Amino acid sequence: MKVGETFKVKVLRENPATKSTKSYQEFSVPYEAGMTVLSALLHAKEYSDHSIAIRYSCRMAACGSCGMMINGLPRLACYTQVSELPESTITVAPLEHYPVLRDLVTNSENFFDKHKSVLPYLHRKDQTEQETSASEFAQSSKELEDFLQFSYCIKCGLCNAACPTMASDPAFVGPQALGQAYRYVADSRDEGAIHRLKVVDTPHGVWRCHFAGSCSFVCPKGVDPALAIQRLRRLTVTKSSTKKAGARLMPALLTK
Ligand code: SF4
Ligand code: FES
Repeated sequence: MKVGETFKVKVLRENPATKSTKSYQEFSVPYEAGMTVLSALLHAKEYSDHSIAIRYSCRMAACGSCGMMINGLPRLACYTQVSELPESTITVAPLEHYPVLRDLVTNSENFFDKHKSVLPYLHRKDQTEQETSASEFAQSSKELEDFLQFSYCIKCGLCNAACPTMASDPAFVGPQALGQAYRYVADSRDEGAIHRLKVVDTPHGVWRCHFAGSCSFVCPKGVDPALAIQRLRRLTVTKSSTKKAGARLMPALLTK
């Protein structure tokens, strides 16, 4: 596409508050070098229709707030170049598997509740030591590698939007929260695994995943939630693996 050439952006408009019928509205946008889908939407909002609802903040794939369906796939609008999309018309819609607040803005409350349910923070048995530790808790490179990629999650929710299991079971804990459960279970500084495994070792937890792998496919930060789910499964059933992966973390499991 050449600079100045116009292209079409189709936006799915919906306002549940007014119970209006949802429908696509088309906008013409002039292409600029390096234009992202978010820039195209902001152009349409500024010059064609101020009422388009979009959520964004950092514009650099860091805050996780601009997730939406772009040509059928969950992506970050600020991280998706118009030039990388093969289709001549860009079609945008709210993220799947989330309630719509208006247009492209979805409600993430349930998503963050699930995230919170896996205790996404370091948990030490000795709270005093955790809060007033007199020394560093050293980790080897290997111990860091065990959880590092999972710590890159920006909570954009694209993985949950891509997950076919989320479509059939809204109570499913979901790839994002399961990925974060593993991120802390795999951290050698943590002692809260027993609590997290109670949340994930349930019919709506790790056992619900069909291993489609779409969560890992769409993640913009290279996190692999599908791998995390497989590792959590192993930890919940294999005492020997549990021992290797963190005996100090799960004394109750080891004595079962
Ligand atoms: S795992 Fe990836 S896709 Fe899922 S919320 Fe985190 S950054 Fe987004
Ligand atoms: S605006 Fe922050 S991730 Fe896109």
